[in-house]
Amino acid sequence: MTVTEPSTIRTGPAFPPGFAWGAATAAYQIEGAATENGRTPSIWDTFSHTPGKVAGGDTGDIAVDHFHRFREDVRLMAELGLTSYRFSLSWPRVQPTGRGPAVERGLDFYRALTDELLAHGITPVATLYHWDLPQHLEELGGWPARDTAYRFADYAALAAEALGDRISTWTTLNEPWCSAFLGYGSGVHAPGRSNQADALRAAHHLNLGHGLAVGALRAALPRSAQLAVSLNLHQIRPLSADPADLTAARRIDAVGNRIFTGPMLGGGYPADLLADTAHLVDWDTLVQPGDEAEIGRPIDLLGINYYTPTVVSSAENARDLPRHDGHGGGDQSPWPGAEDVAFHLAPGERTAMDWPIDPTGLTDLLLDVHRAHPGLPMLVTENGAAFEDTVGPDGLVDDQDRIAYLHGHLAAVADAVAAGADVRGYYLWSLLDNFEWAYGYAKRFGAVHVDYGTLARTPKASARWYAEVIRTGTLPQG
Ligand code: FCB
Repeated sequence: MTVTEPSTIRTGPAFPPGFAWGAATAAYQIEGAATENGRTPSIWDTFSHTPGKVAGGDTGDIAVDHFHRFREDVRLMAELGLTSYRFSLSWPRVQPTGRGPAVERGLDFYRALTDELLAHGITPVATLYHWDLPQHLEELGGWPARDTAYRFADYAALAAEALGDRISTWTTLNEPWCSAFLGYGSGVHAPGRSNQADALRAAHHLNLGHGLAVGALRAALPRSAQLAVSLNLHQIRPLSADPADLTAARRIDAVGNRIFTGPMLGGGYPADLLADTAHLVDWDTLVQPGDEAEIGRPIDLLGINYYTPTVVSSAENARDLPRHDGHGGGDQSPWPGAEDVAFHLAPGERTAMDWPIDPTGLTDLLLDVHRAHPGLPMLVTENGAAFEDTVGPDGLVDDQDRIAYLHGHLAAVADAVAAGADVRGYYLWSLLDNFEWAYGYAKRFGAVHVDYGTLARTPKASARWYAEVIRTGTLPQG
């Protein structure tokens, strides 16, 4: 009989064989090199250079200089034992101004990055659009203009033709809800416009761009390619069982979730969404014949990004109340047609983003999607937390709060899997501390600390913890 060392006894939840253990990033948040090799400005370059839009006047000009340090970053990933890495392509690096041919020097960066990943046994997962629309296309109308959807499909084809030999899993859009409603509704994200009708138009054209891109990707990629989209589905919780609160939850589910899952997963736009927003936009002219079929082209995987639940109630004077929706406040609402819905802080501990910590929301979300769309495999394409990290005298960040967050949420994924959800992987947000959009560098989500003075990378305690989870395929007990 062999004696097992107590420290190696691990009886916590296990994950399915082949489960992808990943981390995620996005081009504008990490790459820097904003003007190198022919890259032109994106809406985030313009926005971050506009005074007052980003905390501290921070920009992504240098970010964490991943463009020049990607080999070191891939080495860090390999040390963590990641089996997969989700990153995004910068549209204006691949196709400056969003029109015309691809720029080889831009593509070369992604060729080199993916070669490096593959050489380390890490599967690349590419996102085509993580919010960096070429500024030139914004000047031609941006996502509220229908033509942008066609431009996106052209770009998708260029990217797939150039990189399809080394990338087999592609996601079209990251969180189109944020692009449409934070970018064109509340204006807290680039391009910083606030017009509810334009936000709804943007949502439709993002949907259409997704469908057209799926078609373009299928045409350019081998049959084995896996296509996906990443949605920040809101796990909505009504404040009470009062019918008015249930109606509030239904409205937010419509304009927060089903506006995307409806058409993208083949069901078309939900009738209640169209009714709730009929006073804002003429859906009959916006949605042209054939659009819903185009948007509903089958995908292979659904990417889900989850951070915190969304608690709602009805309120006649919701406009006058603080809006605890986790999306940055602001005078303008990112929720068209939901003027009488109030957003509440869920009880309990919160992260540095002020987002309540509730892993049960992730289990519930995965199971809700599983029940609504049985047979559609899922990936958790983002989950993680910002905390007020402190660097100790030894130069290390002992981020026990982040470890607890990750532990809770990985256990939540395991719970969903045990209850039948087909979850194929988990991507921690984020590999590195980075440019957190309107918060600039003030919020740190990384498992790896970045010193913004020297750009030195140092794994935090959470990185070590995650590496051990990956190595064993189970969670420690407790
Ligand atoms: C998500 C974004 C990602 C990051 C995290 C914290 O909404 O997709 O880029 O900012 O939030």
